[in-house]
Parts: sequence; C-alpha cells; structure tokens
Amino acid sequence: MPNKTITTDQLTPSGRLRHLLQLHGLERDMIVEILDRAQNYVRPSGAAVASDDCLTGQTVANLFFEASTRTRASFELAAKRMNADVLNLDVNMSSRKKGESILDTIYTLQAMGVSIFVIRDASAGIPALIANKVEPHIKVLNAGESDVSHPTQGLLDLLTIRQHKGRLDDLTITIIGDIAHSRVARSLTEGLTIVGNNTIRLVSPPGLAPNPELYPGMHITDDIDSAIAGADALVTLRIQKERIKEKSGLMTNHEYLKAYGLTEQRLKLANPDAIVMHPGPMNRDVEIEGSVADGLQSAITQQVTNGLAVRMAILAAITGT
Ligand code: CP
Repeated sequence: MPNKTITTDQLTPSGRLRHLLQLHGLERDMIVEILDRAQNYVRPSGAAVASDDCLTGQTVANLFFEASTRTRASFELAAKRMNADVLNLDVNMSSRKKGESILDTIYTLQAMGVSIFVIRDASAGIPALIANKVEPHIKVLNAGESDVSHPTQGLLDLLTIRQHKGRLDDLTITIIGDIAHSRVARSLTEGLTIVGNNTIRLVSPPGLAPNPELYPGMHITDDIDSAIAGADALVTLRIQKERIKEKSGLMTNHEYLKAYGLTEQRLKLANPDAIVMHPGPMNRDVEIEGSVADGLQSAITQQVTNGLAVRMAILAAITGT
C-alpha cells in the first residue's frame, strides 16, 4: 500500500494545472481563477444547465473505491455536460476484486483511451501514486483520499463562502465535529490558508480532535459555544465511523447532538449572517439539527450545486481550455 509521503507535481512545467491532488501548493491566483471559472458555470435553479464542448474527444473514468453520492454524480454530470465520454467503473464488479492491483486497472483503462481518472480511495497516497505512473497526457483528479485530501470539496466550500461573504479574507470559520478523520477539514483549511488571512476554529469532542501539526496556527478546542461565537461560517461534519476501529467510546446520537450538534440555540451565538455548511452525507439530529439544515442560514444545497460547477471548472482547467 502507498504511504502518505508519495507526492507528485500537480502542475505542468509551464505552471498550468495538470492533476488535482490537493490544494496545498497551489497559488492563490490559480484558486481564484478556478472559483471564477466555476461561478460562470453556476445557473439558477430551473434554468438550463451550463454546458460546453471542451472535453470533446476525452474519456473520463470515475473510479470510486469508497461510497459517494455527491462527488461521483457531479463528476459524471460535469463530464457529460462538457461532451466527454464517461466510464463509471462498477468497483464491485471490477477485477480489483480478483486481486488486480489498482495500477494494473489504471493501465488497462489507459490502454482503452481513458484520459482523465477521477479517483476516490480509502488509502492515503493512491491519487499521487497513479499520477506518478500514468502517461504524460493523462490527468488524475482526487475525489476523496482517506482522511488526507478532498480538494474539489475544498474548492466548492470556498466558492460557497465567497458567494455569501463577498470575500475570502478576514473571516472567522468554525469547523465542528470529527476533524481527526476529516479530509474535508484538511482541504478546506488548506484552501482558506492560501486565499486569505482567516481565523479558523476547529472544535471536536475529545477523541476526535485533530493532530495540531496538520493545522498550524488554527484554534483547536472542545468548547463548541465559544468556537461558534461570532463566526461567519459554520461547517458541520459527521462522525466518520468507517475510519474508527473502536466505536464503543462514541456518544449516542442524542448525547452527541446535545454536546456537539449545531442546534438552533447554538446557531444564535454566531454572527447573525453566518452561513451553515455541511459537505454531506448528513446525519440529521446528530451533528446538525434538522431545522438548522433546512433553515434560512443553510447553504448546504448550494454547496451541492457549486460542487458540479467546480468540477466542470477543474475539468476545463486541466484540459487547458
Ligand atoms: N461531500 C462528499 O464527498 O459527499 P459524497 O461522499 O456523497 O461524495
């Protein structure tokens, strides 16, 4: 299995985006350009969807070795709306189940003309491993890597924040929940650190707090009320039970909502115009009260809409259009 030290250059020698493996290492200007591009693909609900033909002749393979609804569906729709051929590999029916290595699966699809691989995997290092091994014309997009990275989620979160706040600087962002196992928190904080001088608060129950070395300069606490006070955006996260071996110490759903859930009562502590975010999948009345998820301050469905636009923008960027 690959380890977390595998790295590869995401950029071409001329500085263009080739792969998207993580936000760390990207320049602010490049992130802003991607967000601007994504904004151009956003359409109001009910309007005709955005489309163009900039992936004509390209074949996109979606390889999701972990469950996904939003990321997988939006990458598929994004590629189709840009005129690509799209292959959604049924991983349960793939030859990886018979012992084929992921690289041999990639080489097989590469030989069929796949030019863009979209990869989600439970092991750290897989997207970079693949990016290091594919032919030079091939691109790799990280669609969720263990607890390490989820760069398109980070970008869609930044776009959502910018749409509401009009800026990406001088903001107080509070992320609440199982940060220890969260690739969403990793990528969003990487992005927020690149784009501006922001105050980032990370609040988790004991046992689910992050390694501080991964979050330099950020405020790590278990005091949810003080972490919410005066925040501009609140990002709630589910407990990633699939990454927790010893579950006996976890609170019940009711206990968790009371102690660490974003309730209507707690939301009043934030700035009056604070937005509420959640990457999904969401556990209502556990990490977030259902009425908050559906409330006027919620930007959760807008995040989903932005996810499609961001994935179109990334596909356009890596193909040089
Ligand atoms: N936010 C996110 O990655 O959702 P999915 O697991 O449904 O793709």
